[in-house]
Amino acid sequence: MRVAIFASGSGSNFEAIARSKELSEAGLEIELLVCDQKDAQVIKRAQKLKIPVFINQLTDFPDRGTYEQAIIEKLKPLKIEYILLAGYMRVVTEVLLSEYTNRIINIHPSLLPKYSGLDAIKRAYEANDEVTGVTIHYIDEGVDTGPIIKQSKVIRLKSDTESNLEDRIHQTEHQMYRQVVLDLLNKNNGVVE
Ligand code: GRF
Repeated sequence: MRVAIFASGSGSNFEAIARSKELSEAGLEIELLVCDQKDAQVIKRAQKLKIPVFINQLTDFPDRGTYEQAIIEKLKPLKIEYILLAGYMRVVTEVLLSEYTNRIINIHPSLLPKYSGLDAIKRAYEANDEVTGVTIHYIDEGVDTGPIIKQSKVIRLKSDTESNLEDRIHQTEHQMYRQVVLDLLNKNNGVVE
């Protein structure tokens, strides 16, 4: 299965997926990292892993439609089947959505619909929520909306600082994203057979 991963920042989810032997053995091929921030740390991670990078910045385009069209032009010849968003800090518009209908997946660090949007971990921490978590979902035109694929809870410990909680949420994210992609690979392999 040929995928592109979209990311804007650190890229720990990108790396967790890219380093998974289980996923590559099951047929995952990461053809491209698409990044909208030229100085993002994720670019270095991709270079280390020898995964091609496409840096595409919104500020170089007149609008979001043409920005996404440039991404589509890059993805088409690579025959990308799924797009995995991993800390991609842009709302995806109809332009990309209509080209990859039901084939764009996102990860979000809360139990959606709670804390959609920015700073989800911080907001859950500051609200003293005893339970928070992670959601992986297909996207639609909203912010962190769209059909949910999987959710996992993360329990806040009494001793947690915001940073401890964040670390545990990220660990849960990495595990979950790998599992969801593995399930997708198995499902798709099944269909092909
Ligand atoms: C993750 O918490 C993800 O849920 C959110 O952005 C963060 C990206 O982290 N959408 P990283 O860049 O993968 O480390």
